[in-house]
Amino acid sequence: MAHHFHLTIHLVLCLSCVVTLSLAQSSNLPFKAVNLGCWLVTEGWMKPSLFQGIPNKDLLDGTQVQLMSIKLQKYLSAESGGGTIVVANRTSASDWETFRLWRVDETTFNFRVFNKQFAGLKGYQNRIVAAATAPGNSETFQIIRKEDDPNRIHIKASNGKFLQAQSDTLITADYEGSGWEDSNPSVFKINIVNTPQGEYQITNGYGPDKAPQVMQDHWNTYITDEDFRFMSSNGLTAVRIPVGWWIALDPTPPKPFVGGSLKALDNAFTWAQKYGMKVIVDLHAVQGSQNGNAHSGTRDGFQEWGDSNIKDTVAVIDFLAKRYANNPSLAAIELMNEPFAPGVTLDNLKNYYKSGYDAVRKYTPSAYVILSNRLGNADPTELLSFAGNFNHVVIDVHFYNLYSDEFSNMNVQQNIDYIKNQRASALKTVTTSNGPLSFVGEWTAEFARNGASMQDYQNFAKAQLDVYGLATFGWAYWAYKCQFEHWSLKWMIENNYIKL
Ligand SMILES: *[C@@H]1O[C@H](CO)[C@@H](O)[C@H](O)[C@H]1NC(C)=O
Repeated sequence: MAHHFHLTIHLVLCLSCVVTLSLAQSSNLPFKAVNLGCWLVTEGWMKPSLFQGIPNKDLLDGTQVQLMSIKLQKYLSAESGGGTIVVANRTSASDWETFRLWRVDETTFNFRVFNKQFAGLKGYQNRIVAAATAPGNSETFQIIRKEDDPNRIHIKASNGKFLQAQSDTLITADYEGSGWEDSNPSVFKINIVNTPQGEYQITNGYGPDKAPQVMQDHWNTYITDEDFRFMSSNGLTAVRIPVGWWIALDPTPPKPFVGGSLKALDNAFTWAQKYGMKVIVDLHAVQGSQNGNAHSGTRDGFQEWGDSNIKDTVAVIDFLAKRYANNPSLAAIELMNEPFAPGVTLDNLKNYYKSGYDAVRKYTPSAYVILSNRLGNADPTELLSFAGNFNHVVIDVHFYNLYSDEFSNMNVQQNIDYIKNQRASALKTVTTSNGPLSFVGEWTAEFARNGASMQDYQNFAKAQLDVYGLATFGWAYWAYKCQFEHWSLKWMIENNYIKL
């Protein structure tokens, strides 16, 4: 395998290093790891209480809202998806009738439409159009909620006047009255489709005065020295730690992100060393968002990472590699979590992976570099021959019996069989004798089966451990802690569902 070649080179240079390195590596692989999810990259679904103290916490960045004129009983719509006027002539709401919020403060917002423009007040007869490529003063609106019915709102424009639906094609910002009656053309019903809860949402939701303390308290308490003791004493050999691109700009990352996650990552390396564990640093959130999920650090859910982001993203890898290359606990750096196809093109991804690999190799010949397979519409073998150009490289695949209709009607045994057959074969496809190592970087014992028994969960987890144990680099459970018991490896171990 590729890394033997490296060891030989080292043998000439330094015999003792080689012995240490080779012993360490042969005894470490494959890793039994756990993801420290929701620690340095927030995921509200795992710990909702983090968001409890945010005012208007259902109106965070990226919240998708639909707005119905109560008088007309019609939805506001960015005609053509954006680029022209906003109308109110739709009786049902879909893409063009859905607006994504950018939160300025707890009551002030921009509205981003389907084609990514911002709705705004554009002079002529105070009409509302969705044509601005960036939000300015005229794209900034205040949402005023009715106290005893917070889904009934007024929308105040930058001219100080309220939006009104004069007719189903004439939406203007010139209403100067008040009142909440159904016949009032300035009254809208706000329908919240979904509210993402990632790092952007929590930091901007609390704002610059409160966010630093909230995040610091979370980082200090969510994962501690004691957790590393627990993990190592229960048979785990490594942690995969999701981080966001802003960590490279600590202690003063661009707003709304706040500094301090780098110190927490430093602590993880200290604790890992203390308990003989290894660290996989996983760049989970990149500038522009590689998948649109809240855990990619996105503001509004648009997936926009591309060619223009490669340089900055490589700089984050360079920063991490430089800082931890000589740390004995560093096992690997994962260049990007879950890029999504086709939005992230294979060409861009390969260009980035090549540069990211080189950045890591500037500082260390032996740390593994992990390449995440694309999710979505992508061939799981598409990186294999490309990865053959590199040394100490790993392909990461994620396996969840969730998130697809395929699993919703499976009984317990069918889920287990799926692991033994389809997952085993999918893993085999990316486990080659001469190429990159394989890594099941995310999996969980939760599955789409309500009311499964403890024995069912034990069997399902055991089937996965048996199959994923064949991955040559190892596996990592998602996650260490989570409000949902089966997603928490800590809980699963403490309650005898999983034994390693
Ligand atoms: C809504 O109004 C716009 C602008 O007049 C028009 O082009 C569109 O066809 C209308 N749509 C419906 C469903 O009435």
